[in-house]
Amino acid sequence: MKHLLKLETLPRTDFEKILGDTAVFKRERNQPKHQPLAGQTWALMFSKQSTRTRLSFEVGIRELGGMPMFLSAVDIQLGRGEPIKDTARVMGRMVHGAVIRTFAQHDVEEFAAYSGIPTINALTDDEHPCQILADIFTYQEKRGSLEGKIVAFVGDGACNVANSWIWAAAKFNFELRIAAPKKFQPAPELLKRAGGHISVTSDLQAAAHGADLLYTDVWVSMGKEAEAKERMQILTGYQINGALVKLAKPDALVMHCLPAYRGNEIDEATLEAHADTIFEEAENRLHVQKAILNWTLT
Ligand code: CP
Ligand code: NVA
Repeated sequence: MKHLLKLETLPRTDFEKILGDTAVFKRERNQPKHQPLAGQTWALMFSKQSTRTRLSFEVGIRELGGMPMFLSAVDIQLGRGEPIKDTARVMGRMVHGAVIRTFAQHDVEEFAAYSGIPTINALTDDEHPCQILADIFTYQEKRGSLEGKIVAFVGDGACNVANSWIWAAAKFNFELRIAAPKKFQPAPELLKRAGGHISVTSDLQAAAHGADLLYTDVWVSMGKEAEAKERMQILTGYQINGALVKLAKPDALVMHCLPAYRGNEIDEATLEAHADTIFEEAENRLHVQKAILNWTLT
């Protein structure tokens, strides 16, 4: 039994196993031979909104033979203050696995420690591991290995998605350039811990120059709504648009984890010009998560 709690601690061999299996799950979608969750019920416990993650886990669990059970965290007693460790011990006696979207990374880790069932991080304030696994799979599918390539992350360089890219860079030997205003750059302590070939700059043109992949995420992550006004001001200009794409390699990919806020982190024309990649990236959440679900049982 395994948990996927963060990319920080995911060994490269497991990363590769998941990505390899993703290709099989994608190619053989809906084939009844892949039913590792037959007879199982998996809880999806979400404290934040979701379109892609909820859909892809609900569909993925069904396609693997299991039954998903969506629990909005505000509707269960957790929302009235029942401790995580008690919720975990109850759920661990009733369901076979848990997919959790919440705020504090510590809460997912505590749930995993007390529940005794496979636990998957479906986004916390610290990391979004399923997203970055799908992103890397999408890049590999379209352009081959990321090793030795240049990824430029533009925007809120201190968010969960940027953090997971940092851990991936250290493991996959690609160059990661984070272009963000000073206030939204990753903590130096985190970069030191991660190692790898990572640079941080406030110069987004320099970061995009010769890049193989331009990537962005929202300026206002869930839970940061109180800072929205300040973030919109400080992050203005940290946008993927036609002028920035021109600085990257001619065959560079543009990706966005979605949801996208056109006119902020990406402009309409660039999003639509790269829609095939961006929506395939979204679809790949389904395939990669089926591989993750299967891997947790091993
Ligand atoms: N990218 C992503 O995780 O989307 P949702 O918030 O819609 O799940
Ligand atoms: N950084 C964003 C990702 C959304 C999928 C957030 O946490 O809201």
